[in-house]
Amino acid sequence: MSKIIYGDSIIEIKQFKSESVHLILSDIPYGISFEEWDILHSNSNSALLGKSPAQEKSSLFKKRGKPLNGWSEADKKMPLEYYQWCSKWAPEWFRVLKPGASCFIFAGRRFAHRCISALEDAGFIFKDMIAWQKDAAAHRAQNVSVVFNRRNDTQNEEKWDGWKIGNLRPLFEPILWFMKPYKIGDTLTDNIIENEVGGYNEKAIKRNPLLNQGIEVCSNIIKCKAEKSDRGLHPAQKPIALMKYLIELTTIEGQIVLDPFCGCGSTLQAAKELNREYIGIEINYDYYKVVTERLK
Ligand SMILES: C[S@@+](CC[C@H](N)C(=O)[O-])C[C@H]1O[C@@H](n2cnc3c(N)ncnc32)[C@H](O)[C@@H]1O
Repeated sequence: MSKIIYGDSIIEIKQFKSESVHLILSDIPYGISFEEWDILHSNSNSALLGKSPAQEKSSLFKKRGKPLNGWSEADKKMPLEYYQWCSKWAPEWFRVLKPGASCFIFAGRRFAHRCISALEDAGFIFKDMIAWQKDAAAHRAQNVSVVFNRRNDTQNEEKWDGWKIGNLRPLFEPILWFMKPYKIGDTLTDNIIENEVGGYNEKAIKRNPLLNQGIEVCSNIIKCKAEKSDRGLHPAQKPIALMKYLIELTTIEGQIVLDPFCGCGSTLQAAKELNREYIGIEINYDYYKVVTERLK
């Protein structure tokens, strides 16, 4: 039953039976031009995708990610184009899930709201935004005074000493929690009897090792560190412990967990370790080979 599919999930998912999946857990492309697979806009602004001298040296940020000289009309359309991209697959995700089933999406802070709107428009209920608190995060922010120094502008260098251009260190990632509504006329407990989904398992979470970190039981903050074994297979690899937490929260053994953007297969590995069935779809052949090897 468990399988890994090499292909485009927007097409492949159309073959899946309706109401056959118990949980979708996916770390979708964030649309922030992180890697080639993350470019989901038609903007060919070379400044946006180009490199600066700092990027040439950086092993982390290959692309500038922001336009150089202000925001063009094409730059400003990127959030809308992200919404349009999410709208291509959201109705199929809705169709394949069982009524009352959960869908967790890692969607990035900048465009998460567009993903939420696309899923709501496809029929989902947006339940909550969980904060995944990380132990470390790559950060880029430039010292303004350094730029003035390069321009030999001493007056402004002193005036703007201590100021930065950029974001604060991104130590949390949002996990969007959606639910497919259950049938009109049913209560949630009727739905649990019929479809075996709809609640969350507090008992399982109370014994989860991630909890011994000063965070209240079953709060919507999950503190989870990426272990050494959670790195090196994919640039967006997610910790197995975190995926296990979300799977145990919403499913029981034997149920089906789907990840339509599976990367190197962290969701699938976690599902396998918890005796759930898994289905993963990956469009990049190299990652498909990595996940196939990993799941052997
Ligand atoms: C954010 S990464 C997922 C990483 C994953 N969480 C892990 O731990 O490895 C998203 C993945 O989606 C894949 N992808 C992008 N568009 C796709 C599509 N239409 N169908 C299937 N996979 C796709 C990319 O190749 C990339 O590996």
